[in-house]
Amino acid sequence: MSQPHVLLLGAPGAGKGTQSKRLAETFDIEHVTTGDALRANKDMDIGHMDTAYDTPRAYMEAGELVPDAVVNEIVKTALEDADGYVLDGYPRNLDQAEYLSEITDLDVAVFLDVSESELVERLTGRRVCDECGANYHVEFSPPATAGVCDDCGGDLIQRDDDTEETVRERLQVYEDNTAPVVEHYREEGILVEVDGEGTPDEVFEALHDEVDAAT
Ligand code: AP5
Repeated sequence: MSQPHVLLLGAPGAGKGTQSKRLAETFDIEHVTTGDALRANKDMDIGHMDTAYDTPRAYMEAGELVPDAVVNEIVKTALEDADGYVLDGYPRNLDQAEYLSEITDLDVAVFLDVSESELVERLTGRRVCDECGANYHVEFSPPATAGVCDDCGGDLIQRDDDTEETVRERLQVYEDNTAPVVEHYREEGILVEVDGEGTPDEVFEALHDEVDAAT
């Protein structure tokens, strides 16, 4: 039997990164995340693609979407080598969803449902390790020593786009562009919803059950 093809949808801060990582480990599938891929290539020159800004960094710091041509290529390359996968952060608009349908078939799209006030609290309190990328929250999942990664001892930093002003912009971009993608998969009949406001373990359990049931 082939491995699961899972899409995780949700607003910024819904817990996609946290849960995708665990899903990928548990089901032994690839974690394909456009956010991480773009952060690793922030200063790539995309000016020749007739884009408004010359680098992904400029889009991300403004809370805007990076052009489709850039992210579509990232996802196509990542999926070429993946048997099973969990997609995190893509598609983010209907054009990307259409492109995705041309290169792969999904088993299930899971929407992590979290209120706006909780999203803002989670994002502005998030800290990430600048060495290994491990994810913390100053209140909900703090490290043993403030500012230091439990896993590798690296420094914990705030992402450039986790300031309150940029978070508000990202939430608006989500409403305008990505909320219609959730409805698209609902109409296709492959959407399931999971309450994203429990503890990370509770959310994972519900998510795991949905993926199991769909694959
Ligand atoms: P991306 O990196 O994809 O960011 P995002 O979708 O805004 O999502 P986040 O990573 O901020 O949140 P998350 O849902 O993964 O939550 P997390 O698990 O970290 O994209 C960044 C930028 O890249 C975009 O703005 C855009 O510019 C560009 N980009 C990316 N993909 C693109 C695309 N396809 N097209 C165009 N542009 C694209 O959790 C958040 C925090 O909450 C953490 O601190 C965590 O510890 C905590 N937390 C998690 N779960 C819980 C819980 N259950 N209870 C309490 N706290 C929790």
